[in-house]
Amino acid sequence: MASVKVGIIGLGTVGRGTLDVLRRNATEISRRIGRPLQVRQVVVRNPARLEGLDARDFDVVQDPFALVNDPGIDVVVELIGGIEPARSLVLAALHNGKHVVTANKALLALHGNEIFALAQEKGLVVAFEAAVAGGIPIIKAVREGLAGNRIEWLAGIINGTCNYILTQMRSKGCGFDTALAEAQALGYAEADPTFDIDGIDSAHKLTILGAIAYGVPLEFPAVHVEGIRSLQGIDVTYAEELGYRIKLLGIARRTAQGIEMRVHPTLVPAAHLLANVEGPFNAVLVEGDAVGQTLYHGRGAGAEPTASAVVADLVDVARTLTADPANRVPHLAFQPGQLASVPV
Ligand code: HSE
Repeated sequence: MASVKVGIIGLGTVGRGTLDVLRRNATEISRRIGRPLQVRQVVVRNPARLEGLDARDFDVVQDPFALVNDPGIDVVVELIGGIEPARSLVLAALHNGKHVVTANKALLALHGNEIFALAQEKGLVVAFEAAVAGGIPIIKAVREGLAGNRIEWLAGIINGTCNYILTQMRSKGCGFDTALAEAQALGYAEADPTFDIDGIDSAHKLTILGAIAYGVPLEFPAVHVEGIRSLQGIDVTYAEELGYRIKLLGIARRTAQGIEMRVHPTLVPAAHLLANVEGPFNAVLVEGDAVGQTLYHGRGAGAEPTASAVVADLVDVARTLTADPANRVPHLAFQPGQLASVPV
C-alpha cells in the first residue's frame, strides 16, 4: 500500500526526536496505520543535527516553502516554533491541501482561530497534541475521553522548565539562574526562556486546553499571566515550612461571568498530587461532572516525550487519509469561526 509522505520543517530538539522515534518504531507505527509513514523531506538549518541519520532516507531541503508547495508531500510537520515564518508555512500547507502536525503552542494560541478555520474550510486536519504538556496525551483525553462531561475546572503544571527550576530550588537549594541554565542544557526551555519563566508558555498551552475543554475559541489575551521570575529561595523555603510547595499552575474554570483562565505561582498543600509532580514532569488535573477528578501525568518537555505526541498525531492524520471512514479521528472540539461570548 502507498506510504504516507511526510515533510518535517525543523530539526531542533523535537524534530530530531521525531525522526529518531519514527525510525526506531517504524514497524509498530506502520502496523497501526496499515501503511508506512515515509519522511520524504526535512528542512534543517544546522546540518550537524543530521548526525547518525542516513541522509539517503530523505531529501534535505533548505527552503521550507519549497516543502509546503511540493505536491509529493501529504503531511507537513511544523517544528520550528515561533510565529513567522511558521504561520505562513502552515497556512500555505493548508492552501496546498496538506494536513499539518505542529507542536507550536504560541502559533496556535495566537493564530489558531485563523488556522483552524482554514483547515475546516479545506477539510484538512491540524493536529497539535505535542503543543500541550509534551508527551502526555492531554488533548486527546480532554477532547475525546472526557467528551461526555461538563468540565468544571482543570489545573495543570504545564511548563517543564518552571517545574524543574522550582524543584531544584526546593530540593537542592539551587539558585534560580543555575536551575534555569540546567533546564536549558537539558533541552526543556524555549528558544527564548523568558516565555517559560514569565508564564507565557503556560498561558499559550492553557489557551489551547481551555478551548478544547470548554468548546470556546482560542483567546490568549483573556489569560491572566504571572511567572516565577521574582520568586526567591526564601519564598520556596517559607512555603515548605508552612506545609506547601510553590507550583506554577495553569487554571481554567467556570465562573458566573464565564470561563476564567489564569497562570500564576500557587501554594499547593505538600500532600496534594500536584505538589508531588517534580522535575520536568507535567500534570493536569481535570474535574468533570460525570467522572469526577482525573489526573494526567508524564514528561512535558524534551526530545522524545514531545516526539511521542508528534508521532501520535502523524498516526492520526495518516488514519484520516485511509479510505475507511471508521478509521478517521476527531481533530477539533470548538468552532474557530465563532468568536462569540464564552458560554458558562
Ligand atoms: N519550554 C517548554 C517547557 C517545552 O518547559 O515545558 C515544552 O512545551
